[in-house]
Amino acid sequence: MHIRTGAPDDLPRIIKLYKEVAKVKGGLARLEHEITEEYVQNFLTKSIASGLILVAIHPDDPESLTGEMHAYKPGLQVFNHVLSDLTIAVHPEFQGRKIGRTLFTIFLEEVARHKPDIGKVELITRESNLKAIKFYQSLGFKIEGRMEMRIKTPQGTYEADIPMGWQNPNFEF
Ligand SMILES: CC(C)(COP(=O)(O)OP(=O)(O)OC[C@H]1O[C@@H](n2cnc3c(N)ncnc32)[C@H](O)[C@@H]1OP(=O)(O)O)[C@@H](O)C(=O)NCCC(=O)NCCS
Repeated sequence: MHIRTGAPDDLPRIIKLYKEVAKVKGGLARLEHEITEEYVQNFLTKSIASGLILVAIHPDDPESLTGEMHAYKPGLQVFNHVLSDLTIAVHPEFQGRKIGRTLFTIFLEEVARHKPDIGKVELITRESNLKAIKFYQSLGFKIEGRMEMRIKTPQGTYEADIPMGWQNPNFEF
């Protein structure tokens, strides 16, 4: 499995990957038509500038991605020690093959080893994505609350969003 940091010219590869992942309901909050160039360009630029972005390369095609993960600083000085808006996406055909766990492990190791200014990594996941919640807990994330009725499902019902956080053991505050 080849994983590297993301670069500006990954834009079309990430758009393609996210559109594939968004086709399967219950994972990403964004629907396929909401995966716009503007959305991807925005998180790609911010993650390169103030956070971290990792991409997993397809084993047979270096022009395709099997996974991507990013987070970045929200921008305000009071949040300067936080990496937020974390999103991870693994291509549906490659899910369940440890790409997600490997991306997360490298991401958190990189923060712990080389980003002492980062105290916290945060993410939000829908309450019905139990596999994802268990997965994040196994990586050291803790549930920090419950945002009631935040997600509207395709069936027209509502579910809670669950904020989770991981603290950097090597934070220098
Ligand atoms: C969630 C996701 C990133 C996990 O990546 P993955 O490569 O499929 O997972 P891995 O093979 O590394 O397995 C890691 C854990 O994820 C869980 N998992 C596996 N497939 C999953 C799936 N389709 N959805 C949610 N969790 C899954 C497993 O419980 C596994 O736990 P284990 O390591 O103890 O066995 C990936 O399935 C995905 O992109 N899903 C769709 C988008 C999404 O849900 N993003 C997160 C929104 S907050």
